[in-house]
Amino acid sequence: MGSVMDPAFVQAPEHRPKPTDTVEAVGIPLIDLSPVLHSPIPATAAAAPPAIFDLLAEVEAACQEWGFFQVINHGVPSELLDNILAASKGFFALSVEEKRQVKRDDVNPLGYYDTEHTKNVRDWKEVFDFVVEEPTVFPVLAGPRTNEFDSFMNRWPEYPPGFKEACEKYAKAANKLAFKLLELIALTLGLPAKRLNGFFKDQSSFIRLNHYPPCPSPHLALGVGRHKDSGALTILAQDDVGGLDVKRQSDGEWVRVKPIPNSYIINIGDIIQVWSNDKYESAEHRVSVNSEKERFSIPFFFNPAHYVEVQPLEELIDEKKSPAKYNAYNWGKFLKTRKSSNFKKLEVENIQIYHFRKAV
Ligand code: OGA
Ligand code: NI
Repeated sequence: MGSVMDPAFVQAPEHRPKPTDTVEAVGIPLIDLSPVLHSPIPATAAAAPPAIFDLLAEVEAACQEWGFFQVINHGVPSELLDNILAASKGFFALSVEEKRQVKRDDVNPLGYYDTEHTKNVRDWKEVFDFVVEEPTVFPVLAGPRTNEFDSFMNRWPEYPPGFKEACEKYAKAANKLAFKLLELIALTLGLPAKRLNGFFKDQSSFIRLNHYPPCPSPHLALGVGRHKDSGALTILAQDDVGGLDVKRQSDGEWVRVKPIPNSYIINIGDIIQVWSNDKYESAEHRVSVNSEKERFSIPFFFNPAHYVEVQPLEELIDEKKSPAKYNAYNWGKFLKTRKSSNFKKLEVENIQIYHFRKAV
């Protein structure tokens, strides 16, 4: 990416990472999922044995206080993560020409690219995106083909060998963890465990391989600018370098998430915020980079089907006591709009859930 800082990467002064940002503070909660590692998730919270009941209380508190937590004993075999990480390192080590053989374009949002923008500032990273279910369908947004759909297949590079297999095996295992977490979260909302599962038939989930190269000016740029994840849940694997900062809801301080071997970082996305009618909030986060070490991370963005109309769940709404705080929005259109604004720098703010917030 060169050694002279391209102004496209430079954050406005108020958004630059500062040396005084909290690093050694009280971190996000660490939750041990062993109570549900081999036992099934109960159909309702009332049917939960004590160990799972306690686990639900931990998940609920973490979702309310942070919107972020880390999990251990999650059931994803470590060799699957090792394999996809090795595949990711092998891929990003290829020449740019080779990587661009599978580059994202204006039509297909999948594959390699190094021009993502968050809030219209370029991120110091390169990525490779693939979907979990093929084909994945997105609505066509504009032009004569409105109300039509595109369906996308993954683009796999020829090198390194075994890349596709490592990605697909990992996706299967991470998907299982995603459903487990979804069911736990449904229980913490007082709903049947499987209440939300139907939204994920025809899911539009995707996995991103992130590579953050060393950055000559880590005080000016960010690996990913501050943002909230727009899907339901994110399950993130990171290596041992560190760089993910979460905005602590209690005081607005940025807190660095400490890498813990064999753990995953889980965060609530905007969709769960809306479904829960703001009981849970998706937290702002960003990625800081450093001048010495490259960093690799792998988020799994767990997203419903494109045709889901996202709105507060009717069981959680009471016209008098807790009226719905959001109008319904179509997930496929939202994601498509967000993705096209992240691909190129635009002069307008990108789409956010507060645009659907009801006037009070
Ligand atoms: C993201 C993200 C965090 C990381 O891609 O949305 O927040 O540590 N990534 O890479
Ligand atoms: Ni994110």
